[in-house]
Amino acid sequence: MKKLEEYVRSIPDFPEPGIIFRDITTILQDPDGLHLAIQSMQDKLKDTEFDVVVGTESRGFIFGVPIAYNLHKAFVPVRKKGKLPCETVSMEYDLEYGSAVIEMHKDSIKPGQKVVLVDDLVATGGTIEAAIKLVEELGGEVVKVVFLMELAGLKGRERLKGYEVESVLCYDGK
Ligand code: PRP
Ligand code: MG
Repeated sequence: MKKLEEYVRSIPDFPEPGIIFRDITTILQDPDGLHLAIQSMQDKLKDTEFDVVVGTESRGFIFGVPIAYNLHKAFVPVRKKGKLPCETVSMEYDLEYGSAVIEMHKDSIKPGQKVVLVDDLVATGGTIEAAIKLVEELGGEVVKVVFLMELAGLKGRERLKGYEVESVLCYDGK
């Protein structure tokens, strides 16, 4: 059986010169790759007690829902601005160019619930840091953060100091 990293497609100079884009679609489009990715992320939660998986739109949904389903936990989406119909809390965060806003439903996490955050990738850590702030604003306790992939050169982990952070694959670059 192939290793997970062998399913990742690396595209040089995308989206700009000098950047290697790590494409996860080649993991997803292979049944063994998909299985291995979900299983490897789930394995990081073997000894973790928690109530809810929180996943960030949109790639965090791909991995968050199957993990929650397999472990019989709840799933709560963090959505991009304007998508959630009920009362929300929202948080702005920086992007490479400009900023963005993410939101959660106010009643999606109950105070004291133990939360695992899931996303495909940590780059600068800005997205997940904003999601953590929302979870904590709602009274949730972040017990772990699990990524499929980490771009260590962007130092997202430093931004997440104090939290238990796990990534399945780690690349040195950006
Ligand atoms: C990507 C990726 C992570 C985030 C990582 O999402 O899926 O969520 O960027 O970058 P950061 O650590 O620097 O915040 P993107 O905003 O491109 O949207 P998508 O998930 O909808 O594709
Ligand atoms: Mg994303």
